[in-house]
Amino acid sequence: MGRAYRMKGQKRKNKLEKYDREQSVEKKVKTDGSNSEITACDIPGIPIAPLDTGNNKQRVIFVLENASLEVAKVGKTHQLLSSDEHATFLAKNKRNPADYRPDIAFQAIQTILDSRVNKSGRLKALYVKTQQGQLLEIKPHTRLPRTYKRFSGLMVQLLQDLRITATGNGEKLLRLIQNPVTQYLPTNSRKIGFSHSSEKLIDMHNYVGKINEDLDLVFVLGAMSHGKIDEDYVEDYISISEYPLSAAYAISIITNAVERKFKIL
Ligand SMILES: C[S@@+](CC[C@H](N)C(=O)[O-])C[C@H]1O[C@@H](n2cnc3c(N)ncnc32)[C@H](O)[C@@H]1O
Repeated sequence: MGRAYRMKGQKRKNKLEKYDREQSVEKKVKTDGSNSEITACDIPGIPIAPLDTGNNKQRVIFVLENASLEVAKVGKTHQLLSSDEHATFLAKNKRNPADYRPDIAFQAIQTILDSRVNKSGRLKALYVKTQQGQLLEIKPHTRLPRTYKRFSGLMVQLLQDLRITATGNGEKLLRLIQNPVTQYLPTNSRKIGFSHSSEKLIDMHNYVGKINEDLDLVFVLGAMSHGKIDEDYVEDYISISEYPLSAAYAISIITNAVERKFKIL
């Protein structure tokens, strides 16, 4: 959904997609006045979580679509827009506050990274597509800030600098990558979309149990407050409850089903 207007002070969108083009060469933070270059993206506090990296067979990928992660200059600083914090700013710019719910993506990402699926090494990748069409990759072993305030600061930094690196080894833990997401999805995978409005109401545990273990599992959910996802690459749309759920709760049903299938305790 393109927007026909710009917010006051916002530059016209570059026609070229902005993403992290650097593949391996990483600039280092200058901490001691030495001659290495400074990047604002390398901040302390993004450590790596220890994960079981066992060679698992069937792996899991999550794609969160329509995430409300938009940065704007509010006053003198760049901020992640949210209906809670920026009601006046959104009203002034004729934006619908219901479209500004970054807390949904925050909770969904936390639930995925905290899951036993991730701790056991079965989470292969996590992609987040924003409502503006930017595609983010979050490495499974990233330890994200646990408070919303610090998460929003990190997102502002990521969307401006295109990447966030790990303390220590400089590995890119979060980065903007080139669209479309389909180029990163294994050909040998089942791409499953989740929507309350799907007529196919299933028991997630039974459903996951029946999928051939040679196929990786790609789970696609919406990270927005309203509307439904409708992605061409999804092969099957399912509903996992009679009730409309939050994205985070739907994710915990999914990860629980995978955990039960593989007896991950
Ligand atoms: C906050 S909900 C979005 C609300 C939207 N009105 C809807 O029902 O799809 C976020 C996401 O959670 C997932 N979800 C919510 N309830 C679900 C259900 N009963 N079955 C499957 N997925 C569900 C969908 O992927 C949805 O896009």
